[in-house]
Amino acid sequence: MKIDLIAGARPNFVKIAALYYAYRSIGNNFDFRLIHTGQHYDEKLSGIFFKELGIPKPDFNLEVGSGSHAEQTAAIMIGYEQILKKSKPELVIVVGDVNSTMACSIVAKKLNIKVAHIEAGIRSGDNTMPEEINRIVTDSISDYFFTTTRNASNNLLKSGKNENQIYFVGNTMIDTLVKNRKNFKRPECWNTFKLNEREYFIMTLHRPNNVDEEKTFKNILAEINYSSKGLPVIFPVHPRTEAVIKTLTSEVKNIRFISPLSYLEFNYLVERSKAVITDSGGITEEATFFKVPCITLRESTERPETVREGTNELAGNDPDKISKYFERISTGQWKIGKVPEYWDGKTGERILQGLAGIKL
Ligand code: UD1
Repeated sequence: MKIDLIAGARPNFVKIAALYYAYRSIGNNFDFRLIHTGQHYDEKLSGIFFKELGIPKPDFNLEVGSGSHAEQTAAIMIGYEQILKKSKPELVIVVGDVNSTMACSIVAKKLNIKVAHIEAGIRSGDNTMPEEINRIVTDSISDYFFTTTRNASNNLLKSGKNENQIYFVGNTMIDTLVKNRKNFKRPECWNTFKLNEREYFIMTLHRPNNVDEEKTFKNILAEINYSSKGLPVIFPVHPRTEAVIKTLTSEVKNIRFISPLSYLEFNYLVERSKAVITDSGGITEEATFFKVPCITLRESTERPETVREGTNELAGNDPDKISKYFERISTGQWKIGKVPEYWDGKTGERILQGLAGIKL
């Protein structure tokens, strides 16, 4: 089966890696063509992930780069359509919820190519998030749905999808975590900041509603600086956040701003941290897997199992809630959490088995 695999941004690389691991271990009649849209292009957001995770060199790189949502989505659509006009696969696989996911699924469907969506069916209910729009559009036109939870499968059933289009397979990000755990690397900042296990926090923030408005962002940093009570907060800064940090003047001396870390370095820090503070979705899943407390600076999540079963709590960007959750962590009152069903490192294999059974 000829398959195009689409990847554009950092979290996509982590997800597709799992398919390559499964492919190498169980083999199969799949002929993958890897399309990198170039949505993320920095070495630190893209190149290093390919190297560390052992993802093959892309067959095509659309090199779309940055731009507004419309510009980026349009550039991906134009670039991918040109490739498909020359040669079409039998199936296109898109993963996650970034602009590349939605753009390529639209292009493929308009050329009557079947689309499979990995991480389908998750919903935050918050249509102000670009990722929610990407999920809704992608799922509305995809043909096959691979889900991380039974809840996601139910969302698809409720939206009218047929049971035989849906495959509950688990979480590809956890496959990649399990596979690479033994190779996690201690980053340089461990020595620079004299870190000790469970005596530091690790933080990531990049959502527009947390970082784009200076006042909101400053208030969040001030609260975290205060609530961390002298323990260092390591903050690898995403390029979109970096632009805002340059304009900040407030004193937040517990927070150590560093460049983005590689996958193996970042997860080394997550696994040993006292807690994670984030507005990402994928990182809440990784924290749940490691059973590390996680405070999410968002009002909603498309991954409710990380709160219901895992170690995650939603604090929004309300200073009172943030401070309450820090207090609970420091007094040891955090829930223990359990790892959700099928987050077991075998999701890639289940996906390939599902694909093998599809009659196109
Ligand atoms: C994207 C995804 C988001 C995901 C995040 C992970 C969408 C809508 N959003 O958000 O779901 O959680 O990636 O990182 O697809 N930039 C660089 N170098 C790069 C890439 C981006 O400097 O390699 C800068 C760009 O100039 C841009 C900003 O970072 O202004 C944001 O990049 P973009 O890909 O538009 O969205 P993210 O915020 O990264």
